[in-house]
Amino acid sequence: MAERAPPSPPPIGLPLPHDSAREHVTGAAPYVDDIPEPPGLLHAALALSTEAHADILAIDLAPALALLGPGGAAIVAADIPGRNDVGPIHGPEPILAEGVAEYAGQPIAAVAAPSLALAREAARAVRASYAPREAVLDVATAMARGDFVCPPHRMARGDAAAVIAAAPRRLSGELSIGGQDHFYLEGQVAMALPQEGGGMRILSSTQHPSEVQKMVARVLDLPEAAVACEVRRMGGGFGGKETQPAIFAAIAAVLARRAGRPVKLRLDRDEDMKITGKRHDFRVRWEAGFDEDGRLRAVAMELAARAGHNADLSPAIVDRAMFHALNCYTAPDAEIAGFACRTNTQSNTAFRGFGGPQGMLAAEEMMDAIARELALDPVELRRRNFLAPGASTHYGQRIEEFALPRIVDELLADAGYAARRAEVDAANREPGFVRRGLGFAPVMFGISFTATAYNQAGALVHLYTDGSVLLSHGGTEMGQGLHRKVAQVVAAGLGVSPGRVRIAATATDKVPNTSATAASSGTDLNGAAAADACRKIRARLAAFAAAAHGGDPEAIAFAGDRVDGPGWSLGLDELARQAYRARVQLWDSGFYATPRIHYDRARGTGHPFFYFAFGAALCEAAIDTLTGESRILRADLLHDCGRSINPAIDLGQVEGGFVQGLGWLTTEALVFDGAGRLLTHAPSTYKVPTARDLPRDFRVRLLERADNAEATIHRSKAVGEPPLMLANAAWLAIKDACAAAAGTRHVRLDAPATPEAVLRAIGALDGA
Ligand code: MTE
Ligand code: HPA
Ligand code: MOS
Repeated sequence: MAERAPPSPPPIGLPLPHDSAREHVTGAAPYVDDIPEPPGLLHAALALSTEAHADILAIDLAPALALLGPGGAAIVAADIPGRNDVGPIHGPEPILAEGVAEYAGQPIAAVAAPSLALAREAARAVRASYAPREAVLDVATAMARGDFVCPPHRMARGDAAAVIAAAPRRLSGELSIGGQDHFYLEGQVAMALPQEGGGMRILSSTQHPSEVQKMVARVLDLPEAAVACEVRRMGGGFGGKETQPAIFAAIAAVLARRAGRPVKLRLDRDEDMKITGKRHDFRVRWEAGFDEDGRLRAVAMELAARAGHNADLSPAIVDRAMFHALNCYTAPDAEIAGFACRTNTQSNTAFRGFGGPQGMLAAEEMMDAIARELALDPVELRRRNFLAPGASTHYGQRIEEFALPRIVDELLADAGYAARRAEVDAANREPGFVRRGLGFAPVMFGISFTATAYNQAGALVHLYTDGSVLLSHGGTEMGQGLHRKVAQVVAAGLGVSPGRVRIAATATDKVPNTSATAASSGTDLNGAAAADACRKIRARLAAFAAAAHGGDPEAIAFAGDRVDGPGWSLGLDELARQAYRARVQLWDSGFYATPRIHYDRARGTGHPFFYFAFGAALCEAAIDTLTGESRILRADLLHDCGRSINPAIDLGQVEGGFVQGLGWLTTEALVFDGAGRLLTHAPSTYKVPTARDLPRDFRVRLLERADNAEATIHRSKAVGEPPLMLANAAWLAIKDACAAAAGTRHVRLDAPATPEAVLRAIGALDGA
């Protein structure tokens, strides 16, 4: 390991507020739908398939066109000038159904009208006739039929089956893990603005402007250079805007091309939920062989995900589930099999954790079951199976840093684990209908896109002659505070106060060929690219200043909006003006590609992650055994952000990630009817957590004296996704309370732990 890096200059490490904090809370921050509408703008609306799987015999646009009149436009798949395909990995993935409807809710036609009300009325007037086909709606059916969106994949080390068969103890289990709607506050929206020379400019709520640019170019049959996409901010993305915004941007662009006018497509909440993909629900089966003292000898696991009607990002998501299926534990022999099942439902997509949460929950379910089987303390059992520096994961990555022993010690001491275990057990011995439980979960989350090529970023930093700085980079802002953190990197890089750095909207015509802001990598990648640009600008200014005023360029200091050399001191603005007059370039671009990572997918081995983020949580839950309702009474979270660039923002990510995970594992149930139609498509029936669902006693800390052994930007660690998985502790706490209520050694609690699931787990649901 490298020796400890020196501390970073301010404002690195300062808890500055989000750059739009005031605008967010006052409602002044503009989102796509708030941007003043250009003259002649048309509003778009979609007609959706009512069938989960059917041949489309005919689509009749005539009634819609009659309503629209000459000022409107209406399209079906055949009207797309280029390719009807926005598939990110495996095409074709149509924006409008072509011949076959693949799920109930799939867009089949689109219309545009001068008013939104008229557009929606016209969309409702579109008539389609169908010849239904057999629909596959769930994982079990797709598995039985062998129907997948990509070939099944395996990661194996040793001979798990043989070792399990010969192990002193064996145990197996099955778990069903629910999906999750992103429920971003701002729904999917895009505005398409025709440009001179046939070009198209897109304003989109997307985590991936370059993908939107590329897909709009493909659908319109234009070169990528003729299309630009711009994103100022999103009202939340959570993975739901990594690929799927391309569908809506492309539809808006085709309508705009046809009408020769700007077009805006904004979905309402019900449509958004019916059309877009969600977190993958999984069916997990595992089998473990272990010693009498609980040490794993081998694990075999099958992870089957509901991909939906096409691939989208499912292959990569199932891979990430497989990478995390042993969480932070070591099993000498392991065989993990992953299946992306094709079903006639929405095309499930990225969602905070990207399969990692489902894989990790499977690991925790397995550890919980083994602890119960052996009547061992669940924390002790987990510690016995921890990885350690020098060990390697089931995909062959050697562990260099393993922060969990220290995190677990600190967390359990703070949370008073031993005393609280005794107290909860004592309370459960008293009569009553409320039962309590404790749950402990560690988190080890791999940082880097597992598709190695995505781990790159660019930035553009302009220093102007008044010493002010304009920052453009390839990352997008979705509430996570990326712009604030990258601006802090730039302020530190140029030695200016944070107020001097202005953040520009993300745009593909400023920083091209960007990766999605995803995989929690926004700051790691774009921060490092911006730092690279700052280094170049500083080097040039230092050389100029040294020549003009004396000194060694290396020794010239940039800090506090000033530049200091031996015997001289200038404001950065003054130096910028002098350099400008001397024809020295004041601005530059930067680039970064994550070092060291590689992965051979065919062999399932390599070093796919630059490093790991760690954390742990202890939760206490109470369940009402009469109604099945649950509450988290107390949650203690300790999370490792390395050397935090902004501890206020990072703490917010830890809190928000945990609560989003809590929703996934407790209240957010997606319900479909027998014909594959989503019934829970509004907040009236789909329950995201609210302020009242926060743990009564919520104690969240960032790990102190934390570091990153890898040379990440200022030795920080990515934080966007990993804390979501701390909520596994809440699910385990509810499961522990269920076991106390049932009075049995093992209980099966499927996720989410809704009241029905809790009652089923304790055997109190009639007919279950
Ligand atoms: N935080 C907020 N407020 N809103 C979001 O949409 N998305 C999450 C996470 N935190 C999200 C969020 C997801 S899925 C990811 S991958 C990261 O932020 C992306 O941003 P980062 O790479 O800058 O952390
Ligand atoms: N995480 C998030 N998004 C992604 C990934 C990943 O690992 N790979 C491709 N898109
Ligand atoms: Mo986050 S699921 O990687 O957008």
